[in-house]
Amino acid sequence: MSIDGYLDTASEKRLTLSNDADFDRVDEVRAACDAILVGAATVRNDNPKLLVRSPERQAGRVARGLAPSPVKVTVTERVKLDPCADFFTKGPAGKLVYCTSAALSEARDRLGHVATVVDAGQPVKMRTVSEDLYARGVRRLMVEGGGMVHTQFLTADLADELHLVVAPLFVGDSRAPRFVGDGRFPWNPDRRARLVEVRQIGDVVLLRYALSARFREE
Ligand SMILES: NC(=O)c1ccc[n+]([C@@H]2O[C@H](COP(=O)([O-])OP(=O)(O)OC[C@H]3O[C@@H](n4cnc5c(N)ncnc54)[C@H](OP(=O)(O)O)[C@@H]3O)[C@@H](O)[C@H]2O)c1
Repeated sequence: MSIDGYLDTASEKRLTLSNDADFDRVDEVRAACDAILVGAATVRNDNPKLLVRSPERQAGRVARGLAPSPVKVTVTERVKLDPCADFFTKGPAGKLVYCTSAALSEARDRLGHVATVVDAGQPVKMRTVSEDLYARGVRRLMVEGGGMVHTQFLTADLADELHLVVAPLFVGDSRAPRFVGDGRFPWNPDRRARLVEVRQIGDVVLLRYALSARFREE
């Protein structure tokens, strides 16, 4: 996020916040996960591939009997997702779309040929999504944004660890998406999160917080 807590600008143009060294760190974290989840707005706005980039890390996963990149996961209610988006077309790993019950038939029609579409209830709760992913063998899920999705995982107390990277710039526009929206977060003046690491990575800083008893120091 920016110094003032934004994930992007309000304009169409995508804002680069991290630097190359931090993108490489993210790649390493991705390679250690079973699945990566982003909100549908991130799929639409950023068109992310969500693949492990490093050939060595891909080979390491394959040697461990895994796909070269983690399973890709998104959530949607409006189903305004393009089946030709990189999320669906790049990489051999599985793709999962969790949608509201009301949107199931439309989602299967539009995306059933490029992803497994799952009825996640009405409304979709991230706990339901997490439990379904667990049933599919996912033990470590990386949530890569955007703000709406972060807010739900954090307020539902589902996250074990938070990696917060602060880039040295301001966005200064309240129309832009924030790291999180409003909500009742479990970490507050009476229950402070545990800061476990501060790491300077070039001109950005990584803050790692342990958020649950399930947090494991790697
Ligand atoms: N800097 C970073 O590291 C970073 C990372 C990721 C994203 N971003 C930026 O963040 C922005 C997007 O963030 P955002 O907060 O606007 O959106 P988001 O969290 O990416 O996605 C929100 C969308 O996800 C779907 N969704 C979320 N919760 C749902 C639920 N419970 N049930 C059903 N559908 C649900 C809805 O999709 P439908 O509208 O399809 O119903 C909703 O509009 C983009 O500008 C992107 O560039 C930045």
